[in-house]
Amino acid sequence: MEKTERITGVRIIRLDEVDSTNEYAKTIAHEVPEGTVVVAKRQTAGRGRKGRSWTSPEGGLWMSVIMKPPRVDPRLAFVGALAVVDTLADFGIFSGIKWPNDVWVNGRKISGILVEGKAGEYSILGIGLNVNNPIPEELRNNATSMMELTGAKLPLEEVLKKLLMHLDGWYRVFLERPDLLMAKVREKTFILGKPVTVIEGEKRISGTALDVLDDGSLLLDIGGQLKRIVYGDVSLRLF
Ligand code: ATP
Ligand code: BTN
Repeated sequence: MEKTERITGVRIIRLDEVDSTNEYAKTIAHEVPEGTVVVAKRQTAGRGRKGRSWTSPEGGLWMSVIMKPPRVDPRLAFVGALAVVDTLADFGIFSGIKWPNDVWVNGRKISGILVEGKAGEYSILGIGLNVNNPIPEELRNNATSMMELTGAKLPLEEVLKKLLMHLDGWYRVFLERPDLLMAKVREKTFILGKPVTVIEGEKRISGTALDVLDDGSLLLDIGGQLKRIVYGDVSLRLF
């Protein structure tokens, strides 16, 4: 069942269950104003990039924001990542960005961001944040949740409210001062100075992560040679 309400002026569509909030958001993107948010209690087919599955049982925050910026910009993922980092900080959790689209705490993934869209029409900023949801056995070594980190169940509604507030703030920064957005991304990107491997299909490139450039790409030092890795469907592994 669909319920609609507003928090601080934002229209929120609440669903008990959906395949993916990103998919749902796409189907309504044309009819709703920018800023409309879709939140589901659980997703039956939550997705990461390249169709990888995203585990989304009840207790987590699974949401998509419909945005209508001038163009589909991969840097919108950073708007989401910084808003997650700030939200976690509000609950006493210190986190960092793992370029290009994850938020990690103590070597584990707590949140993933998925930006999709149609040029000239809309962008969907999908955010998955593990709050009180159980982490399945097979992800235990690589994933964590706010509940696991704090040892207490968190008020999901408060987490959503904070996240929406920070999203609003960082989206404005993105539109008006993208340079400031990227400066903050650099500050929060914990892989800088570290050895990483970029995986692009069958190709693997290893080097030291040097910088995140203003267009969102990653600058790698490969044995003294600089290479720019464009944000796309590349994956990144820490050594
Ligand atoms: P990259 O390092 O490039 O981001 P990734 O392995 O994190 O790659 P993504 O497509 O970004 O891949 O994210 C999907 C992956 O996230 C899944 O393959 C799974 O390993 C992991 N995952 C799925 N559900 C969750 C969850 N609820 N919390 C944390 N991690 C999850
Ligand atoms: C990733 O780590 O690759 C991104 C994961 C994104 C998950 C969120 S949950 C809400 C939205 N709906 C989806 O199907 N995916 C995103």
